[in-house]
Amino acid sequence: MRVPASPSTPCLRKVVEFLDTIQKGAILGLKMSRSAAREVRELAVTGDYGAGGDGDTRAVRPGGAFSEDIKEVLLCADAIRKRVRELGAEITADYAGKELVVVGILKGAVVFLSDLVRSLDCTTKFDFMAVSSYGASTHTSGVVRITKDLDDSIDGKHVLIIEDVVDTGLTLNYLRGVLQARSPASLRICALLDKPSRRRAAVKVDYTGFEIPDAFVVGYGLDFNGRYRHLPFIGVLKPEIYQSNGRNSSGLTSTR
Ligand code: IMP
Ligand code: MG
Repeated sequence: MRVPASPSTPCLRKVVEFLDTIQKGAILGLKMSRSAAREVRELAVTGDYGAGGDGDTRAVRPGGAFSEDIKEVLLCADAIRKRVRELGAEITADYAGKELVVVGILKGAVVFLSDLVRSLDCTTKFDFMAVSSYGASTHTSGVVRITKDLDDSIDGKHVLIIEDVVDTGLTLNYLRGVLQARSPASLRICALLDKPSRRRAAVKVDYTGFEIPDAFVVGYGLDFNGRYRHLPFIGVLKPEIYQSNGRNSSGLTSTR
């Protein structure tokens, strides 16, 4: 992908020139800190995608690939980016001096994990597990089948499970039990999203990105029928999309 080297419109170019001038202290002795100037500059350069806290919502614009399917944007790309950095800083501080093994739950956690690990500043390895639910397709049964196990032993390791969303909590409750039995030095859970109102199994989530209401969301790794994972924001799926697939909001399953 081509990374824009300079602002795409004359108007944005003027903004950036102005910021550069301020940073050099050339106007009325006015100074802006280097980091503040960089931040504003980034927003100006990225234009539509970053400015005004709007985030990257290109796919829901009229004519965008999924403009018909998304009811509303719940978390824009900017908000996610900021929160992931905060989580990275928190985890880095907690695991200082230790080696961390992050265990991503496929496939939903992949996008979150790949951003999160780049915000970590501690020795980190990663591994993956894939799981699927047994039972009828319209309800999470809580009986989970491991379809891909870890590559390496976690005996004596500091393990952090990375999940996209905790819904009923049944999956993580099961996974925590399975991994705990393998004698890690410590075992914690980090989930980007949490829907506390849907909880059926008590599961302690150590790091939570956002608590969200009971809505079926897609994007940033989360899917419906394998779609929408690539969207850079998290949006609420229009009910008619999943209703037309014979499912209801309380019993949705996804391909994880
Ligand atoms: P739990 O066992 O009910 O907590 O199931 C969690 C799993 O269900 C997540 O890993 C997701 O794969 C899926 N899931 C739950 N809610 C959503 C959602 O709103 N969008 C997409 N997938 C979801
Ligand atoms: Mg998942």
